[in-house]
Amino acid sequence: MPTIFSPTDFGEAKNELQKDYFDRHTPVIHCDTQVGVGELFKIKIRIGNEYTHPHEADHHISYIQLWNRETLLTETRFYPGILPSQPGNIEVEYTMIMPQVSMNLTALSYCTKHGLWRSQPVVVKAVSH
Ligand SMILES: [Fe+2]
Repeated sequence: MPTIFSPTDFGEAKNELQKDYFDRHTPVIHCDTQVGVGELFKIKIRIGNEYTHPHEADHHISYIQLWNRETLLTETRFYPGILPSQPGNIEVEYTMIMPQVSMNLTALSYCTKHGLWRSQPVVVKAVSH
């Protein structure tokens, strides 16, 4: 079983190097936290807030996954050569229909050099009309 890294496991970054390393690998989920049952809503996942990640053949973000608790909802794969050669911040956006029960979302991202990274969980409450 691979280790799944999360900056919260390490505590506060001790220096600029750690801050950069944590930030550029950690996916962050952006979405509404209360959504009406049956409504379409968007979930954006961005990797890196202040720091960029390389898109090199031997060092790149290979995939992003979106989980609802233990269920894999969707994933996006990035193959070498499809991203710009300059380092950057990957963003993906998914649209889904809100189910009848609340969700607990987590994103994972995989760097080919630095392993699996986990987002902070985000609870999305299902609101009945
Ligand atoms: Fe990396």
